[in-house]
Amino acid sequence: MPEFCVTGGTGFIAAYLVKALLDKGHTVRTTVRNPDDLEKVGYLTKFSGDKERLKILKADLLVEGSFDEAVTGVDGVFHTASPVIVPYDNNIQATLIDPCIKGTQNVLNSCIKANVKRVVLTSSCSSIRYRDDVQQVSPLNESHWSEPEYCKRHNLWYAYAKTLGEREAWRIAKESGIDLVVVNPSFVVGPLLAPQPASTLLMILGIIKGLKGDYPNKGKDRWRNTERNARHAMTYRRQFNIAKREEETEIDEYEEEDTTDLMRHRPV
Ligand SMILES: NC(=O)c1ccc[n+]([C@@H]2O[C@H](COP(=O)([O-])OP(=O)(O)OC[C@H]3O[C@@H](n4cnc5c(N)ncnc54)[C@H](OP(=O)(O)O)[C@@H]3O)[C@@H](O)[C@H]2O)c1
Repeated sequence: MPEFCVTGGTGFIAAYLVKALLDKGHTVRTTVRNPDDLEKVGYLTKFSGDKERLKILKADLLVEGSFDEAVTGVDGVFHTASPVIVPYDNNIQATLIDPCIKGTQNVLNSCIKANVKRVVLTSSCSSIRYRDDVQQVSPLNESHWSEPEYCKRHNLWYAYAKTLGEREAWRIAKESGIDLVVVNPSFVVGPLLAPQPASTLLMILGIIKGLKGDYPNKGKDRWRNTERNARHAMTYRRQFNIAKREEETEIDEYEEEDTTDLMRHRPV
């Protein structure tokens, strides 16, 4: 059975990925910033198969070489770790942009050193839909990119960081020959596996509770419902299966109504 690494194991999407991979019998490594923070990390040890097949390793996006141990010897890496909702203040470079872009570089460089066969990066539809011509272009697809200048003008720093982070991933993949697949999800919400809501869920709760104003209409948005998260995880696995030509029948049920995610299979 192939072994996988999922970065950012405390994250909402990563939790579903780790669980889905364990459920399918894979051995999984996941990275977290602080393995001793049991309040945050402890839920991972409740998944079926965790004792035999789950390793939790420490890694930080901003530390070069931090992911070396986690990716050495695995067949594939799902890179999901990234800051998502952070305050847009004077620290935005350090709190959002650097972890997103340099973090992607660090993870991919560790993968190159370890000769990892395939990397699946969770980018975002934010790296597609913020463009001056957005109202004229329909539908948007994987050939479209958000424009960094547009993002800067509108203070869309998450979109800015995700766009440059993904561009950087494609650059490294092209230069190194690493096999990269990128998933560009829209909003992903649903039942929590982790004890505390993070990122998008907090934002939506804020809107529902009236703590935030209306959601700004700055592009074309799509909201994904909960159960699709499982499909998201299967979509990732399918990317491996296409390459490995195995287990395809097991995931047919997920292929029928395949996901609103966009996927980039090659640099565009
Ligand atoms: N949820 C969505 O609607 C959505 C939509 C499109 C794309 N995405 C993308 O999907 C991925 C996962 O999103 P999510 O919603 O699951 O986010 P999340 O729940 O907020 O999780 C983010 C993860 O990234 C980790 N992280 C943040 N900064 C880090 C750093 N400097 N070093 C190491 N780890 C760090 C966090 O670790 P800590 O717990 O230590 O902070 C956490 O595990 C992200 O790349 C996001 O951009 C999400």
